[in-house]
Amino acid sequence: MSERLSYRKAALSTEGIDEMKSDQFPVGHGILVALLFLAACDGGTSVVPAASETLVIAHRGASGYLPEHTIAAKAMAYAQGADFIEQDLVMTQDDAVIVLHDHHLDTVSNVASIFPGRARGDGRYYAIDFTLAEIRELSVTERFELQDGVITAVFPERFPINRSTFRVHTFAEEIELVQGLNRSTGRSVGIYPEIKSPAFHLAEGKDISRAVLDVLKTYDYTRATDMVFLQCFDPYELVRIRQELLPTMNMDVRLVQLIAYSKEFAAMTTAEGIQKVSAYAAGIGPSMHLLIDPDSDPGNLEVSGLLELAHDAGLKVHPYTFRRERNQIPAYAKDYEDLLDIFVNELGVDGVFTDFPDRTVRFLENAR
Ligand code: G3P
Ligand code: CA
Repeated sequence: MSERLSYRKAALSTEGIDEMKSDQFPVGHGILVALLFLAACDGGTSVVPAASETLVIAHRGASGYLPEHTIAAKAMAYAQGADFIEQDLVMTQDDAVIVLHDHHLDTVSNVASIFPGRARGDGRYYAIDFTLAEIRELSVTERFELQDGVITAVFPERFPINRSTFRVHTFAEEIELVQGLNRSTGRSVGIYPEIKSPAFHLAEGKDISRAVLDVLKTYDYTRATDMVFLQCFDPYELVRIRQELLPTMNMDVRLVQLIAYSKEFAAMTTAEGIQKVSAYAAGIGPSMHLLIDPDSDPGNLEVSGLLELAHDAGLKVHPYTFRRERNQIPAYAKDYEDLLDIFVNELGVDGVFTDFPDRTVRFLENAR
């Protein structure tokens, strides 16, 4: 065991949690628990997998270099050697499944200037209120925030805002890109789709999970051995997919339970919670902060028992999100590569979601 890892029997602190996902979590399901309570762990027996087996999951593509979820960002991620490429998925008014981080269009496109007056009462522009043809008219840009009429890049050092021409594309179009590149390069890169806000979609009259599975089946992703992980934050939807949709559609793809750094997910991180997850999922995708306390001292990293609980239950562990910007790296790590060293070599995760596939692939190659 690494000397800088310190295994804890009890909870990581939930003070200062900044990754709330309540907007994506079904209201009223009662999974709220006041404290994180991670199971006891002696810390000395975990088996750390070889770094070369660690999956590089391109988070929204090579989103550190090109606007997230654009075809260009996906092609770049592929060329940089990612093992899997992520697609966040939402639906349009006319039932197309498109690749977009969340169901709003206004912080990654010019929708407000192309379709003024189409915002809802909250001022947001919802993908589900537009047809695919309308969404294809939009120009996609690097993610921004709009406050008092002033546009600010979320990641100022990344691709400039409102430069070049990028469009929203469908899930099917992205699969055709990945499968086409697999044919032309002889590689076998996988896809890692995320069903976004299933409860929201259902309230709008759309069964996004069935629509996503329809696309997966069309492109022959049907078996547990196929190169796909299907992820979602909503455990009730994942159970529905496992128990109802997959059997009726004669499919058996691997499911991943996403776990946010939020009190809402605390019950899921207990031994009992993880056992329940293992009944329907092949892996978990936790915030990295659920594995190591972000406020840890550099020489004494406070490790939760979550990774061991998951491994003991037969679950893969793919934490998110690894970014190279200093303000995205916990203070306990010296730099991006040190962060990877901690999670890959010392902790033993099975894969990482990263905005920087090239840096991650290079790190893993050097670690072999
Ligand atoms: O799906 C893993 C990670 O992407 C979850 O967070 O908000 O980037 O989709 P988000
Ligand atoms: Ca995602």
